[in-house]
Amino acid sequence: MANENKWGSSLAFILAMIGSAVGLGNIWRYPYVLYSNGGGAFYIPYLVAIFSLAIPFLILEYGVGYNYQSSFTKALIKIKPKFEFYGWVLPVVVFIMAVYYSTIIGWDGIYLFLSFFKGWGANPNTFLNVNLLQSTDSLSGVFNFIPFVAIFMIAGWFIIWFISHKNLDDGLGKVCKVFVPVLFVIMFFIVIFSLTLPGANIGLAELFNPNWSLLWHFDIWMAAFGQIFFSLSLGMGAGFTYASYTGDDIDLISSGLYVVIANSAFENFAALGVFSILGYMSLQSGTPVSQIITQGTTLIFVVYPQVFNVLGTIGLIAGPLFFFTVYVAGITSMLSAFEVLSISIQNKFSLTRRKATLVLCLVGGFASMVYATSAGGYILGIADIFVNNIVIILSVLVECIIFAWIFKAERLIDFLNSRSKTFKLGKWWLIHVKYIIPVILIVIWVGGLYELLSIKTTESVIIIIVLALITIISSLIFTKRPAKTKDWFETEERIK
Ligand code: PHE
Repeated sequence: MANENKWGSSLAFILAMIGSAVGLGNIWRYPYVLYSNGGGAFYIPYLVAIFSLAIPFLILEYGVGYNYQSSFTKALIKIKPKFEFYGWVLPVVVFIMAVYYSTIIGWDGIYLFLSFFKGWGANPNTFLNVNLLQSTDSLSGVFNFIPFVAIFMIAGWFIIWFISHKNLDDGLGKVCKVFVPVLFVIMFFIVIFSLTLPGANIGLAELFNPNWSLLWHFDIWMAAFGQIFFSLSLGMGAGFTYASYTGDDIDLISSGLYVVIANSAFENFAALGVFSILGYMSLQSGTPVSQIITQGTTLIFVVYPQVFNVLGTIGLIAGPLFFFTVYVAGITSMLSAFEVLSISIQNKFSLTRRKATLVLCLVGGFASMVYATSAGGYILGIADIFVNNIVIILSVLVECIIFAWIFKAERLIDFLNSRSKTFKLGKWWLIHVKYIIPVILIVIWVGGLYELLSIKTTESVIIIIVLALITIISSLIFTKRPAKTKDWFETEERIK
């Protein structure tokens, strides 16, 4: 069992963590979040979020994961057997996220394919919504299945299976060691190219033009914390799980630091590229940047194809490179989300990695088919709110309290410091994980719920209830099913 789930080196762990962090959140989400929340002024809440929440919490998650060398669920049982149910809730929610994440990867796969011949035609907006996704803005389209979309989604699940059914270091480790650096290199070239486009300065001026007055708004602080959360895969068990696979000599403090730096560098670099391109579009079309910029799928799948159309032959090179980058970033993130539930069921039901990954890919692939319908985009938006605004923040809050107070974060300090080649933890760290982070999380959670109230329609409430039921029922089943191994309740701790 040990070999199946161990990194071959610290480098594999760090690159896999960077692969987890750098994902769709960095490419389509961040540029828009930065722009719409005060431009240059956004850097203040962004840096506060990194220093007050991300770095201290990441180190806590890594430390506890390292200590137990097991799945999140098994570790919680060791902390207190009563926590088992909650120990399943997080992996299940993260799996729900992986399922909708796979949808966007599937869409990106379609665009990667189309980009070789600009198959989206002259009007990418109509192409995306009418021809390809046949989107309905309600549940009514749920029976209109779209096989073309389904095929690309299944291809994504196949890749996930192919990588994760192998022993950890031969599959995930190798893929991250090769593709994470590739991701940075391609992004570097795309951004340098974008910066040379005429009009790039218009976009950049628009992006960084700081709106200091927004600093007094609660929204921009929430946006910064939400972004950092999602972008760094915080509190979703990914860091916990990956750290549990590390060897004894791992320097977790420095690793956390490298992951944060790489992730922020990537997303800020991506923002430069996105806004240079938008500036170019603005110059070409005479439309102000503020009217071109959009969030999410529309930015990637509508604005970018428009740009590649305008770019002529160069678009035939830039297009495939861009959609390939998004694909790789998506796959390496999804692998980490997938891993959380996978290792929990491997541990409890004594399944091999091969079996567990096969079962989960079949279940996930099958479940994802709901997104291959006309209502897919609509349901996806609500599932995203369910995961990000409601469950994850609450779950991280619980996790932080369990790790910092019940497990006792102070137990980790000597070990973590003894390996650290960069900085050492002191009292400030305990104050963060015990007091500051829980308080921040409560504020964000209440704010997120408040935001949610504004979108409620009967259909969205139904979808949220269904997702909540799926989470509760599957977590209950996992909890109640008897373990197939004697050591389910016995986990060795590495830190004495
Ligand atoms: N960090 C990923 C992104 O930026 C999202 C993610 C969250 C992946 C949690 C895995 C686990 O897209």
